[in-house]
Amino acid sequence: MSDDHGTIESLSSLAHDAQESYPPAADFRAAANQNSSDIYLRAAADPEGYWAEQAQQRLSWKKPFTEVLDWTNPPFAKWFANGELNVAENCLDRHVANGLGDRVAYYFEGEPGDSRSITYAELTHEVKRAANMLASLGVTAGDRVAIYMPLIPETVIAMLAVVRLGAAHSVVFGGFSAESLRARIDDVEAELVITADGGYRKGRVSPLKPVVDQALVFDNADGKPSTVKNVLVVKRGGNDIDMVAGRDLWWHEEITAYDGEHTAQGFPAENPLFILYTSGTTGKPKGILHTTGGYLTQVATTHSDIFDLKPESDVYWCTADVGWVTGHSYGVYGPLANGATQVMYEGTPDTPNWGRWWEIIQKYKVSIFYTAPTAIRSCMKVGRQVPEQYDLSSLRLLGSVGEPINPEAWRWYHDVIGAGKTPIVDTWWQTETGAIMISPLPGLTTLKPGSAQIAQPGISVAVVDDEGNPVSNGNGGLLVVERPWPSMVRNVWGDPQRFIDTYWDKFGDKYFAGDGARLDEDGDIWFLGRVDDVMNVSGHRLSTTEIESSLVGHHAVAEAAVVGADDETTGQRVVAFVCIKTQQEILAPEDAEVVLKKHVADLIGAIARPANVYVVNELPKTRSGKIMRRLLKDVAEGKTVGDVTTLADTVAITAIAKQVSGN
Ligand code: WTA
Repeated sequence: MSDDHGTIESLSSLAHDAQESYPPAADFRAAANQNSSDIYLRAAADPEGYWAEQAQQRLSWKKPFTEVLDWTNPPFAKWFANGELNVAENCLDRHVANGLGDRVAYYFEGEPGDSRSITYAELTHEVKRAANMLASLGVTAGDRVAIYMPLIPETVIAMLAVVRLGAAHSVVFGGFSAESLRARIDDVEAELVITADGGYRKGRVSPLKPVVDQALVFDNADGKPSTVKNVLVVKRGGNDIDMVAGRDLWWHEEITAYDGEHTAQGFPAENPLFILYTSGTTGKPKGILHTTGGYLTQVATTHSDIFDLKPESDVYWCTADVGWVTGHSYGVYGPLANGATQVMYEGTPDTPNWGRWWEIIQKYKVSIFYTAPTAIRSCMKVGRQVPEQYDLSSLRLLGSVGEPINPEAWRWYHDVIGAGKTPIVDTWWQTETGAIMISPLPGLTTLKPGSAQIAQPGISVAVVDDEGNPVSNGNGGLLVVERPWPSMVRNVWGDPQRFIDTYWDKFGDKYFAGDGARLDEDGDIWFLGRVDDVMNVSGHRLSTTEIESSLVGHHAVAEAAVVGADDETTGQRVVAFVCIKTQQEILAPEDAEVVLKKHVADLIGAIARPANVYVVNELPKTRSGKIMRRLLKDVAEGKTVGDVTTLADTVAITAIAKQVSGN
């Protein structure tokens, strides 16, 4: 191929990329929930009025609100504060009262192949019984309950039973370690933990209750025993477990004593709903607090508009585990508030083989499917011949969340899974935002693969420079949210100063999201990844600092540096560089990799396990002694090492580069 030819070809392919766009199909647009761009203008003209209208139309209030937003004490927002509602009633009872009791709420598919369908009437009945059971165990409004469960219907029943009583839940993802679970239990001072014996994962039972036992047995760093009085155990895995007399109770034995009579009481809209922990830039995870009225308003609105939900005919499936915010907002609260029929699948996409997801879509005729780019890329690697064996013609809309979706994965998703016809909504949001903030609206937006595009109606965002000045189109900067929004984080649990410092210190009354972003010539937003020490591995947030402190906590480690290296499939992967203490007998360098990977997994959880651990003699440092993580990231990615002018000496980085590249 001549140079000339190559140049012309690459230029024309670039031009194609730049223009590649997918306008909504006429029939999709005509039937879409939102198909007039007036909505953006209306909402922008009066955001509070817009949200008040959503709150009134989409939810049922025990006591109507007369105040919308209270921003008199920024950054502590209150929405609909003098209104009262019951979240569980909004998700359940009112649908039954509206004659929708026979509609399926969840089609549950267990990993071993067992399945159950649960109607709104049945789910309501089970939640009422569970609420009675929890009440008799002492759960009352204002309490916190920890939930450590597989993805099974009882998990949702437990969550809704807790909130029905006006208490708040803190769901801890089943992949977290005993240490991490205990830290969260301590932080919220939970007196009750709801768990299961175990759940199915990758073809075997993964034990959960034994992890709870381990989490509760020790005195914490403050020398205190756990606050937990009872552990309620759902039978799922059938694995052998110990039951501690007086503390532990089987769910299926206890529940028989309770009937389905339970009247939902209204609670103020700013009553805590849940606390969900997420990694920050310092070692300790932050407890992100969400409340009821504003949260439910925004998750219901976005779920309906962005996914174009037709509750009477759609089958919707969000693949996220409820241990993450996506599972909370778009696997439980948004869809249930909207009366949707959903699929819930317990296991992993590759069990027993990579056809599993597509088989489920075929079986339940899923029409709306919401997953993460990392999963799409894994499926791409396996090849299109797998999904092509299944009938996916029921799909009419696809969604993406968790990290930027690269255009190549976008096209594969669109063409192979969506038969070249389904719109894709690339949704940007965070644990802190509670609900989707930036996304196309499928009946209105001309899609651009790789861009999350525009703020939702009623949401005001900007890309700004370091001083907080908005950048012009064609430029990059930091993403901020300019006005309070209904589902915004209300606080960091127990640490208001950290809430202020993390999100509000940088730009005053604008929320600093921690993401880099670029505006294209049309003003559409393209995300560029985190600008802080947070890594994004398979769409899950991990803290560099937290993993470094766990490594340094190992008796043999003198120093550690962790970086998130770009990875084709998982977005980023965790790469650690450690210096071992000089007494070699503590830990032989050849054992270090295995031992330290396990150490991190034990301390934080398997999701944080480094992909690589390199034992090095010295870490590269600036003259002032700061570790140069940027250079280590280059090395881990096999790139030429960048600017080294600020280094004290370049010996360390040269040696590491040699070691990593293996020559
Ligand atoms: C990233 C997940 C680009 C981002 C809901 C954000 C995204 C972090 C997207 C939040 C997207 C999420 N495009 N980046 N569509 N969605 N992110 O709290 O860096 O687990 O700050 O919430 O994921 O992750 P979290």
